[in-house]
Amino acid sequence: MRTPVNPFKPTAGGEPPLLIGRAKVIRDFEKGLDNGVGAPGRIMLITGARGTGKTVMLTVFGDKARARKWDVIEETASEGLCERLVNELRSKDHMLDRFSIKPAVSFAGTSISLGEAELSPKRMPETLRKAMSARLDSLAKQHAGLLITIDETQAAQRSDMIALATAIQHQIRERRDIAIAFAGLPQMISDLFNDEVITFLRRAKTNVLTDVPVSDVQDAFGTTFRTSGMTIDGEQLRTAAEATCGYPYMIQLVGYHIWDAADMRDSDIVTDGDIADGLAEARIDLDNAVCVPELHGLSHNDRAYLEAMTASDGPSSTSDIARRMGKTNNYAATYRKRLLDAYIIRETERGEVDFAVPFLREYLRRQQQR
Ligand SMILES: Nc1ncnc2c1ncn2[C@@H]1O[C@H](COP(=O)(O)OP(=O)(O)O)[C@@H](O)[C@H]1O
Ligand SMILES: [Mg+2]
Repeated sequence: MRTPVNPFKPTAGGEPPLLIGRAKVIRDFEKGLDNGVGAPGRIMLITGARGTGKTVMLTVFGDKARARKWDVIEETASEGLCERLVNELRSKDHMLDRFSIKPAVSFAGTSISLGEAELSPKRMPETLRKAMSARLDSLAKQHAGLLITIDETQAAQRSDMIALATAIQHQIRERRDIAIAFAGLPQMISDLFNDEVITFLRRAKTNVLTDVPVSDVQDAFGTTFRTSGMTIDGEQLRTAAEATCGYPYMIQLVGYHIWDAADMRDSDIVTDGDIADGLAEARIDLDNAVCVPELHGLSHNDRAYLEAMTASDGPSSTSDIARRMGKTNNYAATYRKRLLDAYIIRETERGEVDFAVPFLREYLRRQQQR
């Protein structure tokens, strides 16, 4: 009998039934928690293209910390980040809660609360540091630590990052039980972390999430399908796994739609037809959820640059791309930088460029044929 619920989770941040290929990153993080103050894993940076599983990784970190009775604060780096952090640091502490409701005081007719003054950009580094210290004080009495996770770090404001880095640095100097994990897109995050004012964060342990091995995907598919009561054969598993190219989001889409195709026939035996239908559906979802938004807002020339890249099956050198575009190297370099900054392309070790998100090449090729 198959389970009533599809076991795959093709949603952003959705914790997958089987987390494939991330054992080392998780271990690094857990070692950081267990090895005490000053362990490298206590400041962690998770980068990777869209859909590689950064948000899921932060969720897992939160679970690992909670299992050790740590407090966890999970935030996203949009405007007002530090303000929200201060509020969460205070509200998590019942003792402090009572004192954080500040009386309003009046200056020459204008009424401002002390709370607002404390949250002004100028005072923020100090306010955040104090809120963190107070929280860590009360946690220390319970022999517990504090994990803060920050998602979408590429969108952080510089002032927030400075305040946060200053506060964390202070806690570490004071040998407090604190850990912080940042997740975000590689290019933009590296800009933030190379900022002179935030140099302290360069000590962070960096983990780049890449595609997972296809053989691991195949094993995980086998386990997940069979555990949910579906019969699927080895050849079908291989076809399904290969179609994902090891891209985590595609893993969930492919699994989900194949399972759904069999379920729709009210069957618990996967047929080759289900595989074909499932792969086609997964492709459509991937185009809509990843390829279309990636290309949205690009200029005509950005797109021409990407189309020139599709002429090869792997990375291309800048000079090859310029030649294919019929332009100078200098001209092409402008678009190369723009696309790198948007993290649509990435630089390989040999200084060539390739698509940052798999499947974008085929998507563009299919569009060109139309
Ligand atoms: N290691 C993994 N193995 C299998 N599926 C994964 C893995 N990591 C993430 N996923 C799946 O990939 C999708 C995207 O994950 P998400 O964390 O939202 O990526 P990101 O934050 O990098 O854009 C989700 O559906 C999630 O369940
Ligand atoms: Mg995410």
